[in-house]
Amino acid sequence: MSEHADQILPHGRVLRYPFGERLNHWIAAFSYIYLLLTGLAFWSPWLFWIAVLMGGGQISRTLHPWAGLIFFYAVARMHGYWSAQMKNTEVDKQWWRSISHYVQNEDDKMPPAGRYNAGQKALFWSFFYAAIVLLLTGIVLWFPEWIPWNLRWLRYISVFLHPVAALFTIANFLIHIYMSAFAERGAFGSVIHGDVTLHFAKRYHPAWYDEIVRRANAPRK
Ligand code: HEM
Repeated sequence: MSEHADQILPHGRVLRYPFGERLNHWIAAFSYIYLLLTGLAFWSPWLFWIAVLMGGGQISRTLHPWAGLIFFYAVARMHGYWSAQMKNTEVDKQWWRSISHYVQNEDDKMPPAGRYNAGQKALFWSFFYAAIVLLLTGIVLWFPEWIPWNLRWLRYISVFLHPVAALFTIANFLIHIYMSAFAERGAFGSVIHGDVTLHFAKRYHPAWYDEIVRRANAPRK
């Protein structure tokens, strides 16, 4: 049987991420980690030892932009998979207003999140727009000789914006790792084997859970 998102599985489980979405997520994750490590090495002489560990300065400098293209490709595919589900809704505005309950784990006082809560949506869009800035400024830094002298301000802007956008993604990344791998128990497994328990869906994404149950109980046409 072919996999599709939201498919109900035996033993009270539901498929959250089909194989293609999982694979793409890990392409984004591994390329990002490579970019993070080599990028930090170029950013500060204090961190250059990281490039030495990654095979040397020249190899890191050669591969960094290619890894950037892979990362951007994966983020663009993520956009294809998930952007429709990441649109901000009225519930998301209420979610942000109730954030104090969220941080205290008072899930029952939160407005019902759908497949993604407002925080996950913010992370998605932050990564998406930062990836566009990183790509555009990265291309300028990759081929500076292409930039005509009268447009040299593009280089200055890129030298400034590339690390700023990268630092912004690092903040996102740290929050993402904390939230997805440690705070929401069961989430990490979803990007490994794809499924979560219905209990996880009900606890963290009640509107998504209601939708799954409604669809499962709908009469077949
Ligand atoms: C080692 C690195 C990473 C780990 C351990 C990790 C872990 C996870 C987990 C567990 C989920 C599922 C969360 C859920 O559905 O409740 C997830 C989803 C997601 N990941 Fe990652 N991830 C990593 C790197 C990245 C990177 C670099 C990006 C940047 C594009 C990214 C973007 C996303 C997005 C947009 C989602 C869906 C929304 C969300 O759950 O926040 N991840 N990740």
